[in-house]
Amino acid sequence: MSDDKMMKLGVLISDVGVHPAAWLDPGTPLGGEISFPFYLELARRAEEGKLDFFFVADTLASRTGDMAGVMRQCAYTAHFEPLTLMAALAAGTSRIGLAATISSTYSEPYNAARMFASLDHISGGRTGWNVVTTAYAPAAANFGRDTHEDHALRYRRANEFVDVVNGLWDSWDDDAFIRDRASGIHFLPERRHPLNHEGEFYRVKGPLNAPRAPQGRPVAISAGGSEPGKELAARTSEVVFSVDRDLPSALAYYKDLKGRMAKHGRAPEELAVLTALNPFVGETDAQAQDAFAALQARIHPDVGRAMLSVDLDVDLRGLPIDEPIPDEMLPASTNATKSYFEMMKQAMGEQKLTVRQLYEACAASRGGMNAVVGSAKTIADRMEEWFSAGATDGFMIRISHLPEGLDNFVSMVVPELQRRGLFREEYTGSTLRDHLGLARPKISRCPSRD
Ligand SMILES: Cc1cc2nc3c(=O)[nH]c(=O)nc-3n(C[C@H](O)[C@H](O)[C@H](O)COP(=O)(O)O)c2cc1C
Repeated sequence: MSDDKMMKLGVLISDVGVHPAAWLDPGTPLGGEISFPFYLELARRAEEGKLDFFFVADTLASRTGDMAGVMRQCAYTAHFEPLTLMAALAAGTSRIGLAATISSTYSEPYNAARMFASLDHISGGRTGWNVVTTAYAPAAANFGRDTHEDHALRYRRANEFVDVVNGLWDSWDDDAFIRDRASGIHFLPERRHPLNHEGEFYRVKGPLNAPRAPQGRPVAISAGGSEPGKELAARTSEVVFSVDRDLPSALAYYKDLKGRMAKHGRAPEELAVLTALNPFVGETDAQAQDAFAALQARIHPDVGRAMLSVDLDVDLRGLPIDEPIPDEMLPASTNATKSYFEMMKQAMGEQKLTVRQLYEACAASRGGMNAVVGSAKTIADRMEEWFSAGATDGFMIRISHLPEGLDNFVSMVVPELQRRGLFREEYTGSTLRDHLGLARPKISRCPSRD
């Protein structure tokens, strides 16, 4: 089976694992969230697994709220800034893609374009950029804003942000810089294209002061599950991270998203849907269940409540954990992460989950609440089922605790997927676009250019 018919696999690395109790696991290094040697080891491990890319999530504020819970959390508290980290990891790796998050709500497009273009040059074309609108409202106070922009406004801004960044990446033709010592000419002005953008949120003249990137443009990623999130992905993204509770909703999401692309003049294969997956891998199903139960048991109730308070956008401090959340406490909607909020409310509507059951399900698998626990065969079965059903083009592996969660996935699940002919045995290309089977974008000419 050729590469582009195989599963695409990205790995999400955050702090010492996405699980809120990861740092309490004796196997995770204390302080690993800010240890470059540790992160270099993780990136090289992911490269050994021939994974498509290594992704680092990011938020623009350290967790606030109920200190009783927050003081017990490592996740989302203090860690590397993703692009700085990726530039260093680029020097220590050679094939794995490097994808980092940037906020379209709290970043300047000129800076974003410059940083990711530079990272693409530094990494030899292995860069991806994950555009998020930043759901976490406390970030506003770190950027001199009294209020956090409304969800719809954040996405309107995100659309213009992406267009400006793409426009800046098209500032120079690939062969603009002739660097001709004989004539003393460094570049040809006719191959330089200032942007002259005037929009609702941005006025950006350009050109970008970085030559065209090896990939033309870094690979565009997003992760929005809401209506405007899906529209942004269908119009501009090449990879989208999705969170789905079950196979039918994953199939519906996939069909919906791919079905929106034609109206933007795009073909479905120009976008890869990577479904978020939280695997807990063990030698056997029983061994995996035991390890999983041990990690779950380390979740302190204050941490569980604090974590739920973020995605349900309501303060749950002090609530008894072996009873459901009183309906009257739950807001009708959220200005934060709409898709997670809707999925959690749906789950609470279906079963009267107690606070403990809810935070345990979300701790294991944020939003989708569908962690997979078992042997390599069990995990591969679930992945093959969704992939073969056409519900996804691959997976975004959210690693629970590091390094063990990544080691187990690379040493046990990857060989099982390779044995089934579902995943590559060797990298065949050198850029992230090669790995993902994505074409190199041509320079787009828009009227405002000279
Ligand atoms: C795999 C994955 C990774 C994500 N990474 C980030 C991130 O790094 N930073 C962030 O603020 N949001 C991140 N998100 C959240 C999304 O950007 C977005 O806020 C969320 O999916 C909800 O979007 P919606 O309001 O459009 O439903 C991620 C979501 C997924 C599924």
